[in-house]
Amino acid sequence: MSKITEKIRYVGVNDHETTLFEGLWPLPYGVSYNSYLIIDKENALIDTVDARFKDKFIENIRKHVGASPINYLIINHMEPDHSSSVSAVMELWPDITILASSRAVPMLTGYYGISAEKIRTVGDGDSLSLGETVLSFHMTPMVHWPETMMTWDESEKTLFSGDAFGTFGIPGTGITDSDLEDLGPYRDEMIRYYSNIVGKYGNTVQAAMKKLSALEIKRICSTHGPVWEKLAADVAGLYGKLSRYEAEPGVCIAYGSMYGNTAEAALCLSKELTKAGVPNAIHPLCTENISDALRDVFKYNTIAIGSPTYNGGIFPPAETFMKAISARNVKGRKFVAFGSYSWAAASVKLLAEQAQSLGFELIGLPEETPGSQSGGISFPHAYSPEKCDMKALAEIIRKSAGLA
Ligand SMILES: Cc1cc2nc3c(=O)[nH]c(=O)nc-3n(C[C@H](O)[C@H](O)[C@H](O)COP(=O)(O)O)c2cc1C
Ligand SMILES: [Fe+2]
Ligand SMILES: [Fe+2]
Repeated sequence: MSKITEKIRYVGVNDHETTLFEGLWPLPYGVSYNSYLIIDKENALIDTVDARFKDKFIENIRKHVGASPINYLIINHMEPDHSSSVSAVMELWPDITILASSRAVPMLTGYYGISAEKIRTVGDGDSLSLGETVLSFHMTPMVHWPETMMTWDESEKTLFSGDAFGTFGIPGTGITDSDLEDLGPYRDEMIRYYSNIVGKYGNTVQAAMKKLSALEIKRICSTHGPVWEKLAADVAGLYGKLSRYEAEPGVCIAYGSMYGNTAEAALCLSKELTKAGVPNAIHPLCTENISDALRDVFKYNTIAIGSPTYNGGIFPPAETFMKAISARNVKGRKFVAFGSYSWAAASVKLLAEQAQSLGFELIGLPEETPGSQSGGISFPHAYSPEKCDMKALAEIIRKSAGLA
């Protein structure tokens, strides 16, 4: 059902071919590129789709407009997953007017050779009448590119939000969330999408949400995943929390290990946390894409990183993961590191220093425990509970995570 309302039609496509979104992030359930058509005296298209799917996209549009023209193309976001079918649209409807923010203009020219006279630059609060429908444009820069804006349809109380409120996974056949009781599996996929792609921009997401807070939003049409109606408030609430870096009690355990000793400690910590009733997820960084581990950094209030000492430093997979956390400006987490070494421990100390510079609260075993320091514990060679008491650490984490 691609008819969202009499005037708003869904003309997006599903992508089950791409294995890594942006060349980085796994897509186990696929992804959709959502585009919307507003049917009125004049017709407007909001965003396009990845050009690899342009034929299906044009077919979808044709189903709704037949031989009638599309008069306007509104570009909320220039990332090529949404803009790369602009040339196909312009070929079919050469008289179309493109509306975009000023920051999008050089991108339209640079990517697709579109001359400036084809583009009507819109600013904050500008509007476009299509007949009965009046669309207004709201600049929301850096959600997550500089040109990003959102489009508001007052008569339908619908926000076309670009990537904001989007999720990995595809919408159901009904496109909207009407058959969902709650976010279900979309919740984790939305957190994963947010943490992987938008996560660095919590402040600008907050600014955008503040700016839009006066709107009485009935429906959110984002560029990825279902159209949110019934669950619009839940989705906005989740985005609010994520952008404020708020997290629930629990632990993201992420570790790298060459010979299995740090891995054994990680598994032991997970087991003890589970026994103590602390939600936790464990991620082997040597074999797993960091996508899910980053999701859990945004989900849980405690990060536990396992890394052996490697050439006097942090084992590279753990170092990369720490860099990814830092790059997302993650705030307000509790932190503990652990790891095996053979002759001179360094990784735990270095990880704890990095965590401290990110403003994380360091937790750990009592300082008098051998190998222990604020923010972690190093143990020589093979793991054993005598060298590194994960039961005691799980108990300390449970208390610090805010669980009774
Ligand atoms: C390339 C390489 C470099 C290492 N550098 C150090 C080091 O600088 N200091 C140290 O104490 N141990 C070092 N080690 C030893 C490991 O930290 C040690 O074997 C540890 O038990 C490995 O933990 P794992 O089983 O979790 O991989 C190094 C090992 C390798 C293979
Ligand atoms: Fe994007
Ligand atoms: Fe996108």
